[in-house]
Amino acid sequence: MDSTDVQADLKHVLYTKEQIQQRITELAAQIDKDYEGRELLIVGVLKGAVMVMADLARALHSHVSMDWMAVSSYGSGTQSSGVVRILKDLDTDLMGKDVLIVEDIIDSGLTLSWLKTNLESRGTSSVEICTAFRKPDAAKVELDVKYVGYDLPNEFVVGYGLDYAEKYRNLEFVGTLAPHVYE
Ligand code: XMP
Ligand code: MG
Repeated sequence: MDSTDVQADLKHVLYTKEQIQQRITELAAQIDKDYEGRELLIVGVLKGAVMVMADLARALHSHVSMDWMAVSSYGSGTQSSGVVRILKDLDTDLMGKDVLIVEDIIDSGLTLSWLKTNLESRGTSSVEICTAFRKPDAAKVELDVKYVGYDLPNEFVVGYGLDYAEKYRNLEFVGTLAPHVYE
């Protein structure tokens, strides 16, 4: 799906397909280097992280295992509360594992902060975070994020895994929605 199909629904393209792919390749090279000689488990957070997991995993040169979690963050409307429920847990025993959580976007940071603590409590050797996007101005907790694709303004965005009402996840770029879509 490209921008010509949904042009009227979009306000701005923030990062193009090429920019995202370039940045994912850079992050993968850094991850390869940082985890050299270790066995890495990458954990994707459904559903948003599907695109970044697929691209990151294929850009890595080292062996990695992949697993998935689905979580729902309780809160009013679009605001996350930090109270998280696990909808789908991992199939993997984390004892002694080096884990890299892969996310689409970090907004308040509350979901990831909870998830990191939860995985660390399972006897992991290390837990780090890789996110395609981050909104620094929305942060509500201090969260150590080792790998960040791009920082975004504090606006609702869609594409590259991110949805509005389950649409736009399959855009290859990230952009802001035109107001007529959600008003
Ligand atoms: P917190 O606030 O806990 O929330 O960091 C992270 C989750 O909120 C969703 N989210 C978005 N989804 N466009 C989206 O499609 C956005 O601009 C956006 N901001 C936050 C997302 O599910 C993420 O995992
Ligand atoms: Mg998400």
